[in-house]
Amino acid sequence: MDSIIVTGNGPLAGQVPIAGAKNACLTLMPATLLSEEPLTLTNAPRLSDIATMTALLQSLGAEVTSMQGGQVLAMSSHALDNHVADYEIVRKMRASNLVLGPLLARLGHAVVSLPGGCAIGARPMDLHIAALEALGAEIELKEGYLHAVARGGLKGAVHEMRFASVGATENAMMAATLAKGTTVLKNVAREPEIVDLATCLRRMGAQIEGDGSSEIIIEGVDRLHGATHPVVTDRIELGTYMLAPAICGGEVECLGGRADLLGAFCERLDSAGITVSETEKGLKVSRRNGRVSAVDVTTEPFPGFPTDLQAQMMALMCTAEGTSVLQEKIFENRFMHAPELIRMGADIEVQGGTARVRGVERLKGAPVMATDLRASVSLILAGLAAEGETIVNRVYHLDRGYERVEEKLSALGARIERVSGQ
Ligand code: UD1
Repeated sequence: MDSIIVTGNGPLAGQVPIAGAKNACLTLMPATLLSEEPLTLTNAPRLSDIATMTALLQSLGAEVTSMQGGQVLAMSSHALDNHVADYEIVRKMRASNLVLGPLLARLGHAVVSLPGGCAIGARPMDLHIAALEALGAEIELKEGYLHAVARGGLKGAVHEMRFASVGATENAMMAATLAKGTTVLKNVAREPEIVDLATCLRRMGAQIEGDGSSEIIIEGVDRLHGATHPVVTDRIELGTYMLAPAICGGEVECLGGRADLLGAFCERLDSAGITVSETEKGLKVSRRNGRVSAVDVTTEPFPGFPTDLQAQMMALMCTAEGTSVLQEKIFENRFMHAPELIRMGADIEVQGGTARVRGVERLKGAPVMATDLRASVSLILAGLAAEGETIVNRVYHLDRGYERVEEKLSALGARIERVSGQ
């Protein structure tokens, strides 16, 4: 298994290109199942999660061709010949459940494995099921698989979600595009990936309004057509690279970055003493002076502070002046990076969903273990600020969500290399 070795090396400088969003791409790809005509995505990120979704769509009979080194995905679902999303693929990646709504809408039936346990919490699918049942689907759990049928097709309905789940909103939106009549989805997620999905579906002929607000209205159409759509910038990769100069000093321009994608994140950075300015090409980030100040963070649905940037923010807070309190409100078990950061000399106390971080002057390099995608990159960020060498093991998590991280950070002056495992 590969490892990444980082050696703390002072300030960073330069430009870093930000890729298309993994999470947007993982919901845009299943949208191909809604139409017989081709859907082409540009600005796709080159990640192992995208390869997993490609394999899943191909297993259903869709054609997926990766072009221009993976940045363009040409897809066609003119002849679907399978409606079963197999456990062997779904267990690798929870986002596989995003084929449920489109398959149901297009074919009238779908069988999708439940994803099973996930390192960062239970992550059930009750919200997806409730939304699809409101549209007239009958869903039963048999032998670990959700069996969904829409006898006579899906029908528009008014449905209010118990919680603004990103995935459930996406599944419901895709299903409702081909339902008969009007669907009103209330208390939905407002994340930029939802707006990107709605934009793509509109390009395919769907009638959707209200995306980006907490109520989405969809007028069902008989069929959707082909389209070409550029994937929105990855706000989580963007936030991660913004934290690199914040943590070890310097000035970095994130190409393609947009402040409107970041919600509360920019305001928290400003309070910590980080300057973010808009440029023609993106966002420029630098640390104002000395150590950053401790700030408190509570993760919330968009536009609140994103849970997917909590681990990276904790890495920054490890060397801040003062004590910061980080509260995780989205996932119940998302502090697995804390014990690894403690091995690097951080002073962190975790109690339930709250972590109290007392800033220390300097972290010290150590061998550490990546436990999930965002935790892995937080350890790399901590390594950039640490004295000596940090070896991050089990980096396969990282390849799920960050393309060429060692190349991108090296280009900014970081000392970082990947070592192939036996
Ligand atoms: C998506 C993102 C993930 C991000 C998360 C929250 C993708 C591929 N993944 O995940 O990176 O961390 O949003 O911003 O886009 N829940 C239920 N029942 C359900 C569904 C969810 O209780 O049916 C709970 C989950 O356990 C969790 C919370 O709702 O505690 C948020 O989950 P959700 O918004 O659905 O996240 P995902 O769509 O899985």
